[in-house]
Amino acid sequence: TKQLRIAIDGPAAAGKSTVAKIVAAKLGYVYIDTGAMYRAITLSALRQDINLNDEKELIKLLKNTSIDLKTSDQGQRVFVNNHDVTDAVRENEVTNSVSYVAKHKLIREEMVERQQQLASMGGVVMDGRDIGTHVIPDAEVKVFLLASVEERAVRRLEDNKARGISSTLEELKREIAARDKIDSEREVAPLKKADDAIELDTTSLSINEVVDRIMAMIGDI
Ligand code: C5P
Repeated sequence: TKQLRIAIDGPAAAGKSTVAKIVAAKLGYVYIDTGAMYRAITLSALRQDINLNDEKELIKLLKNTSIDLKTSDQGQRVFVNNHDVTDAVRENEVTNSVSYVAKHKLIREEMVERQQQLASMGGVVMDGRDIGTHVIPDAEVKVFLLASVEERAVRRLEDNKARGISSTLEELKREIAARDKIDSEREVAPLKKADDAIELDTTSLSINEVVDRIMAMIGDI
């Protein structure tokens, strides 16, 4: 059977990774979390005290940084220069800084190149902000997941609780809205539904319902 490329985009905490992982598992495809790649370089920049507005220093760092996504029994793990940074990239400081790093043209060009390499064989479910618009514009399946800020904050609060991260609903609503604003308003490859993507508002859908709808789209190909 054909090894499809499935692009899942949408705003922060819309359930992209949860859904993408399940769809990938069902199909025996590779799941690629492109947000984790931007988080990884952001973590490295923070640890090295690099000014997040300094595009030249950031691209120098990225060119010297290997970022690997590996699926293991404990789920997907993120490695920077062979060090496991899976938990570190989810910390608040990274979450609240990543959109500043992801604005830079040179950073995006390098990331898109790496992501296109990863998707080139097909058999991938890739999630992010610009997958359907820039990374795989000819993907066989394009989904744009949406949900209200309120609902996304509630989901993230539960996620965080499970991970032992303390946060409040108001704080999360503010952070999610702020990140969406920067991601949507940036000049290079802003968060945007591709013209040919199918929009799914997940506010009142369960994870299984969202997965079923995506599986139905795939079945139609
Ligand atoms: O998906 P996640 O919330 O982990 O993404 C973290 C951040 O990385 C986003 O808020 C965005 O700034 C950036 N990102 C991006 N393009 C992608 C994926 C993520 O700009 N394809």
